[in-house]
Amino acid sequence: MELLRKGKVKSVYLQDDASVIMEFRDDITAGNGQKHDVLRGKGKLLNSINEIFFKLLSSNEIPTHYLQKLSETSFQARKLDIIPLEVVVRNYTAGSFCRRYGVEEKKKIGPVVEFFLKDDLLSDPLICDDVIEALSIANADEISKMKNVALEVNKVLKDFLMDRSVILADFKIEIGRYGGKLMVGDEITPDTCRFWDENTMNSLDKDIYRNSNDKDPLEGYEEILRRISK
Ligand code: TMP
Repeated sequence: MELLRKGKVKSVYLQDDASVIMEFRDDITAGNGQKHDVLRGKGKLLNSINEIFFKLLSSNEIPTHYLQKLSETSFQARKLDIIPLEVVVRNYTAGSFCRRYGVEEKKKIGPVVEFFLKDDLLSDPLICDDVIEALSIANADEISKMKNVALEVNKVLKDFLMDRSVILADFKIEIGRYGGKLMVGDEITPDTCRFWDENTMNSLDKDIYRNSNDKDPLEGYEEILRRISK
């Protein structure tokens, strides 16, 4: 099958005009690829977690690219025309938000929606609505719809996780066009979300890897899978 794109942790293969196969590899990266490791079993874990979140969105009538799991590490998805933005929703302060605005971590906010331009060479800069329109990345109607979709995804995920004693601090989604509709694409996993245990406020996501060299991130990922499998 034709390899369409080899990302930092996923490979995307063309299946036919309308569908792709996405494969989670065992790679983990942080700092725009500056830190990189291979964690055996990570691809399988992420594929299982991603499946649960995407099925949850579908069952809440949120259109997504997800079609079906194909193997332990891969799934079939609709081939979207991805809008090159990272759509971030924040319920608590963390990460780049604290660095950018000089605010303390773990304060409840929002929900706040932010857009970042998907461009590794530019380190994914924050981008505002007017610039998104000026650069013809998306029109005003699409920007408004993307915000609504992001907030709907937030509501569904936040409530589902809260029932499992997990705080959804923030997350990133990607959105694409498919047959005149907008759909949620890419992945929803502990690589793209911040999950905090409700009682300890400890991270159960990629921050374990970003912030430490001796903790095993997969222990957090396994805990997330265990809780969302209930
Ligand atoms: P940030 O605090 O680094 O801006 O990240 C906010 C959330 O979005 C966090 O859960 C990580 C996720 N994210 C990605 O998955 N990929 C990215 O390239 C960026 C910028 C954020």
